[in-house]
Amino acid sequence: MQKLVSAIDTTSPEFKEKKEKFLKIFQEYKEILRQVQQGGSEAALKKHISRGKLLARKRINLLVDPDTPFLELSSMAAYGQYDNQFPAAGIVTGIGVIHGRETMIVANDATVKGGTYIAETIKKHIRAQEIAMQNRLPCVYLVDSGGIFLPEQARVFPDKFDFGRIFYNQARLSAEGIAQISIVMGSCTAGGAYVPAMSDENIIVKKQGTIFIGGPPLVKTATGEEVTAEELGGADIHTSISGVSDHFAGNDEHSLQICRSIFESIPFPDRQKLDIGVIEEPDYDPEELYGIAPVDLKQPLDSREIIMRIVDGSKFHEFKTRYAPTLVTGFARILGFPVGILANNGVLFSETALKGTHFIELCIHRKTPIIFLQNITGFIVGKQYERQGIARDGAKLVHAVANATVPIFSVIFGGSFGAGNYAMAGRAYEPRLLFMWPNARISVMGGDQAADVLVTIKKDQYIASKKEVPDEELVQLKKSILKKYDFESSAYYSTSRLWDDGIIDPVDTRKILALGISMSLNRKFSDPKFGVFRM
Ligand code: COA
Repeated sequence: MQKLVSAIDTTSPEFKEKKEKFLKIFQEYKEILRQVQQGGSEAALKKHISRGKLLARKRINLLVDPDTPFLELSSMAAYGQYDNQFPAAGIVTGIGVIHGRETMIVANDATVKGGTYIAETIKKHIRAQEIAMQNRLPCVYLVDSGGIFLPEQARVFPDKFDFGRIFYNQARLSAEGIAQISIVMGSCTAGGAYVPAMSDENIIVKKQGTIFIGGPPLVKTATGEEVTAEELGGADIHTSISGVSDHFAGNDEHSLQICRSIFESIPFPDRQKLDIGVIEEPDYDPEELYGIAPVDLKQPLDSREIIMRIVDGSKFHEFKTRYAPTLVTGFARILGFPVGILANNGVLFSETALKGTHFIELCIHRKTPIIFLQNITGFIVGKQYERQGIARDGAKLVHAVANATVPIFSVIFGGSFGAGNYAMAGRAYEPRLLFMWPNARISVMGGDQAADVLVTIKKDQYIASKKEVPDEELVQLKKSILKKYDFESSAYYSTSRLWDDGIIDPVDTRKILALGISMSLNRKFSDPKFGVFRM
């Protein structure tokens, strides 16, 4: 493979200026991350700890193998919504290693409104289960939740992907032979009672864990019966009388040990084999990405500059270098794993789409995972291109992405606009993982274009009705659209709503992609299967 050579002078004033701009965004991101990872209010944290309970992230630390990474997902879910009363949407999800097994861990954070579920909590929980299903990861649920956040019930209770979906998914995961273990470390009320009840095995913590379909206040209202939570559904009752739980733990630490010991009897899956090479660090320092990450999306950027700071030895076997240059395609290795990479270098044309489709076919036939590096303004528009059949060729690329039978991973390092988002494996195309850099932006089109389109439509309406065009109104319209798009296209807006799996430090991109590929090997890749390509 050839070594990529950088054309960027990292000592130049332009580089330094770009880096400074990026670092400003990056510091803000790190500060928000620090805040959300603290969990609930100080009072709630104090109350939780005074009960002898460990915090959600500490529980996870004790559950996973020492000195192994934990890839936390969507840490900023719900950020900027609900007056920021739900840090991380009150739930911690991520991939960790237990007895050498990559595992999906879902932990309620009881310091955030009693660990109750708003729409984003449910979305995060369901996304974790989806990743577990796609990659055959066993699941551990660390349950400590009051169930649905009742004021939000109309947005979270009955629909297809609402609260009930969690238990539906548990049944489907179980039928697929994917192990699920619950530890009841706090409340497990109403529908939430099904989390442990539908798990293969569950552990309940003494004088701390409770499981019941209706809590004491509800029982009193319904039947008049007065009963304590412990009598109704505590650890003692469930491990000795009801049989709802399987293991009795003295405290949090003990319960986590029992869970680890259960993992010793969960068999390893038959993993997909890949030709794994020797790991090499990139020739270029990944920290240089801080000065390369596109803060100003209007400035062109050669995506090879990103690739050479992510892949092993900065080595890249490029495919069709001279053809359709606005899409860079080629093979490389990331921490030894073979990958095919598609990275944007400008607008998508007909030939770009054909090149991308051909390359995806290569990856699929070679059973090589695919990485999409997105910085895309969209498909080319105009009479000439429509006549050439840009819609037909773009459709081929979308087909290939949607039917990819190897794991695909997406990183949005710049912009992600319009149908370019679809063609480059946006969320709807089920990449196994999708991350954004803090500077990234995502929307149906850029703010400028959206404002121009809407102003043109308005202007045409006035002209059609033979009215005078009110220039000032159009100026205000443009301003308001620009403001709206600026706000709604930020990485924070996206991640808050789980359009992605989280915002990441560009330097971690390499490590995170490798973790993702390793995780994906737990399910064997299927054979190629495509639909009808319009020729
Ligand atoms: N919906 C909305 N808010 C809830 C809630 C629910 N289901 N359960 C708890 N909360 C809120 C509380 O109002 C409180 O909010 P605040 O911090 O703004 O005052 C916060 O969560 C913590 O609750 P609190 O009762 O003070 O904490 P706790 O640790 O002593 O008890 C629970 C936590 C979950 C055991 C307890 O609140 C409870 O039993 N909740 C009701 C559970 C239920 O019936 N759920 C059915 C849903 S289907």
